[in-house]
Amino acid sequence: MPFAGKAAVLGLRSLIAAFVVTAIATAAPTVSAQKIAMSVDASKAGPKIDRNLFGQFAEHLGHGIYEGIWVGPDSKIPNTRGIRNDVVAALRAIKVPNVRWPGGCFADEYHWRKGVGSQRAVTLNPNWGGVIEPNTFGTNEYMDFLDQIGSEAYVSVNVGSGTPQEASEWLEYLTAAQPTTLARERAANGHPSPYKIGYLGIGNESWDCGGNMTPDYYLSQMKIYSRFVRNFNPAQQEKNQMLKIAVGPGGGEARWTDWTEEIMKAYQHHTWSWDINGLSMHSYTVVKWPPSFASVGFGENEYSQILKSTLEMEDLVSKHSAIMDKYDPQKKVALVVDEWGGWYAPLPGSNPGFLVQQNSLRDAVLAALNLNIFARHADRVRMANIAQMINVLQAMILTDQEKMVMTPTYYVYKLYVPFQDATFVPVTFDAGTYSHGDVNLPRVDAIAAKDSAGKLWLAITNVDPNQPAEIEIGVTGVAAKSAKGQTLTAPKVDSVNSFDAPNTVAPKAFSAQAQGGKLALKLDPKSVTVVAVEQ
Ligand code: AHR
Repeated sequence: MPFAGKAAVLGLRSLIAAFVVTAIATAAPTVSAQKIAMSVDASKAGPKIDRNLFGQFAEHLGHGIYEGIWVGPDSKIPNTRGIRNDVVAALRAIKVPNVRWPGGCFADEYHWRKGVGSQRAVTLNPNWGGVIEPNTFGTNEYMDFLDQIGSEAYVSVNVGSGTPQEASEWLEYLTAAQPTTLARERAANGHPSPYKIGYLGIGNESWDCGGNMTPDYYLSQMKIYSRFVRNFNPAQQEKNQMLKIAVGPGGGEARWTDWTEEIMKAYQHHTWSWDINGLSMHSYTVVKWPPSFASVGFGENEYSQILKSTLEMEDLVSKHSAIMDKYDPQKKVALVVDEWGGWYAPLPGSNPGFLVQQNSLRDAVLAALNLNIFARHADRVRMANIAQMINVLQAMILTDQEKMVMTPTYYVYKLYVPFQDATFVPVTFDAGTYSHGDVNLPRVDAIAAKDSAGKLWLAITNVDPNQPAEIEIGVTGVAAKSAKGQTLTAPKVDSVNSFDAPNTVAPKAFSAQAQGGKLALKLDPKSVTVVAVEQ
């Protein structure tokens, strides 16, 4: 249960955060051919980059679950107990650490009993297009899916229209080992042994779609759920305890900082009878609501504006981390960014309630920049869930009936697998500036980490869509001779993978040598590159 570990506070994060802010603020014109000098100090160890930073979110929304995951056992699409095999294989390859389910806004209207047993209730999904919810993908199917992809459960319980009793019975159904009526029902539904539930979300956006609650009202509800929604699994009593995540902020304005203050102030004085281990934060890259930027068929204007907007994540994380530090200096409570990603206009012709969008090279760059921000804050940010896994918003995978394609964002997650549970290593550099119109962005971004075998990994993003980036990297603590890995780029900022052309944006082999004791890398414009340093 990596999320539980208290990260050491080494002062590195604040140093690097300060640097990044400086880099972002630098507006001086940059000579395109100017080399960028980086220093990586592999002798210094920062916090662990929790593997849960690479978590996913799968809501009952559009084709996220139905068709995306669930096709049913009788489908002609190859499946295992109704779960499509192609999607499982693709997700296994990116080592998904956890999947948040069943929502989102859907969670606060979800009644778990309708999704278990042989007779499923047919209901509606009023949040997302008002379509029929067949409840054929329910608790046991979700757990089977997790088992098939090798991931952990992050269950969001219904605080909006549900009751503490309903949620506590759900957890009893899932986790009781003794032969209670609910445990026997679970066994009759095919799973005699208790399930492991790693993470419990207590509500979703309770300040908005989850019930429009004031912080005070939510707090009183959250304490009750924290107290009574128990995990009975004997294997989760001492070690591997279920971690509870409270609803946190949805932005940086006073309304949200007040929310964080109120929850964390209460946490500071919490008694034995309630506890939380995480505070959720939601932040989409949208520029302005309602989402109007196109997900494909755009140019450099939209590329640079979206990336400028996405980098606001740094300030948001810093702001809420600073509040949390006041009440929880030991960083026991993780900041859990469990909804983030690019949110664009729905694809023309799609149901607007299904949040269907394409996924371009821009999204790959966007994903890398955000993952880097989370990694730099790894002492406090110990879980993040991109929205959403399949066919919805910034997805890993798109499907159309039997067809499936991996998106540019998927490939970033694949490139970043070595960073899961690796130890953060500080990188210092002057990013220079990429300018377009009145938008100024750091030209490059980078993180480094050591994996459990001691191998040093670098992830470097060249934000500039026009110029290659020549980088010289001095490495301390490792005798770097060469670097090998993969790079992801494509002809255009809005290049996408389609069912007909699935490899337009796909990683290619990349290598670099040391010259004069320094690694010399030449990165393509608008690219994400991950390399292992060879000694
Ligand atoms: O991800 C789509 C929606 O965005 C989620 O259901 C909700 O939590 C958020 O507002």
